[in-house]
Amino acid sequence: MTNNQNFFLRNIWYYALPSYQLKPGKMIDRTFLGEPVLLVRSENGKVSALRDICPHRAVPLSCGRFDGQEVECCYHGWRFDPDGNCTVIPSLVEGQEKNLSRFNVQSYPIHETQGNIWIYITDPEKPQPPAPEIDIPVIEGFEERSPQLVEVMRFPCFVDHAVTGLMDPAHSPYVHQVWWWRSGKLNEEAKQFDASPYGFTMRKHQLSPSMGRLYKLVGNGIPETEISFRLPGIRVEQTTSGNQRVCNLTTVTPISDTETEVTFALYWTHSWLAGFKPLMRLLIRAFLGQDRTVVEKQQIGLKYDPVLRLIKDSDMQAQWYYQLKREYARAIAEGREFENPVKDQMLRWRG
Ligand code: FES
Ligand SMILES: [Fe+2]
Repeated sequence: MTNNQNFFLRNIWYYALPSYQLKPGKMIDRTFLGEPVLLVRSENGKVSALRDICPHRAVPLSCGRFDGQEVECCYHGWRFDPDGNCTVIPSLVEGQEKNLSRFNVQSYPIHETQGNIWIYITDPEKPQPPAPEIDIPVIEGFEERSPQLVEVMRFPCFVDHAVTGLMDPAHSPYVHQVWWWRSGKLNEEAKQFDASPYGFTMRKHQLSPSMGRLYKLVGNGIPETEISFRLPGIRVEQTTSGNQRVCNLTTVTPISDTETEVTFALYWTHSWLAGFKPLMRLLIRAFLGQDRTVVEKQQIGLKYDPVLRLIKDSDMQAQWYYQLKREYARAIAEGREFENPVKDQMLRWRG
């Protein structure tokens, strides 16, 4: 397996940001896949996203103001509604321009659910609207609840390295070697994986003793966990014990060729866990920080553009990721249905 050429998947939903970061009447400027995006939340609560470049003279719209209904450019005061329609050009006099629609700014589909804002990034070469059934993972058992804890971290790397790091079962004993996470000794693992929508799922299983240590607190019954991955870089881990559950949504969103945002959101049903929030936040930050530190080191070697060797079975998930990504891009290019390349199988590794 050789080095994969760097490209971003398009015509797909990406995690944009946690809902709480965008208050009604406010705007936030962000970059996704190298594109400047302005996110606004209207007074009525609806989130919208516009290309953050004024179609007049390219001043970022985020330099202007948002009154809770419309965005006004700071340069000549052109106004846009949250759908990107140009509504006012102040310099026009009676009879000069009847149709403002050619001054509209590009907007992005947005979907907000379970405390998360998702953005659909199209391919300008082959734009394709989102499928009517929204392909965003549902965190089961939490309806419209928001995560109790969210941690966002920037990784200084191209998206693929953040994703493969996230799906890598062999790095934990080396990268995450701390008393509360792992004992440091390698365990032999064998897990069944099945193809699932736009990705794969590690079949539900009882937690191994080393992982179980973290969850023993969780209470009644032996904890069972299921981990699924789907494009473009979304991992959902659901751990249940008795009628209680803890779910972790981890998402990876490319900011640019050299920066990637990793968001770790945690949902839980145990009321008493709330008291441990500050401690949990520290642990999650430390944990993600360990992943980021090793990615920083990886950048030193990647500068030389080496061929990377992937091995069985511990790199199988990374290989699946590359296969899924290529297939998704190809299916769009060829205008056909996506066909999941993952074949159900047992993977074995020491980690
Ligand atoms: S640059 Fe935005 S209104 Fe002129
Ligand atoms: Fe890790």
